[in-house]
Amino acid sequence: MERDEFLSKLGIGVLALCTGCMASCGGKSSDPSPSGGGGGTPAPPSGSGTVFTADLNSEIKTIGASKSSNGVILVRIGADNVATSFTAVQIACTHEGTNINYSASDGKFICPLHGSQFSQAGAVLNGPAVVALKKYTVTISGTTLSVVA
Ligand code: FES
Repeated sequence: MERDEFLSKLGIGVLALCTGCMASCGGKSSDPSPSGGGGGTPAPPSGSGTVFTADLNSEIKTIGASKSSNGVILVRIGADNVATSFTAVQIACTHEGTNINYSASDGKFICPLHGSQFSQAGAVLNGPAVVALKKYTVTISGTTLSVVA
């Protein structure tokens, strides 16, 4: 094999390898979504009916304790086992969809990505988010708490 022929074949091989790599890697490097959710704000759970339940004998027994499921975060904000001792809101931040956390010491929800803050009722306290969190109804029957859409 001549030197020119060898280099020519080598070039074609490298080009084919790079093309394959770029095709398989290109999607991730161009994804602007910080949460990996495909961009945009995911819709909060909708529809009607029970989103999830909690057993008050064994779950979320202390103020500030939380449980999340099916896109909703439930937090105990009062001591008594009555509906007003709890708040339930969509867990996805309305800015770009990152899951929010509840800060018991601050008494509000805080997004860890860009710092938006929401009241216990889901209202925007600080941006960049401008849309309130969807709030869910809490009902209690016996020791079973239900989060209802
Ligand atoms: S995703 Fe930006 S503040 Fe929550």
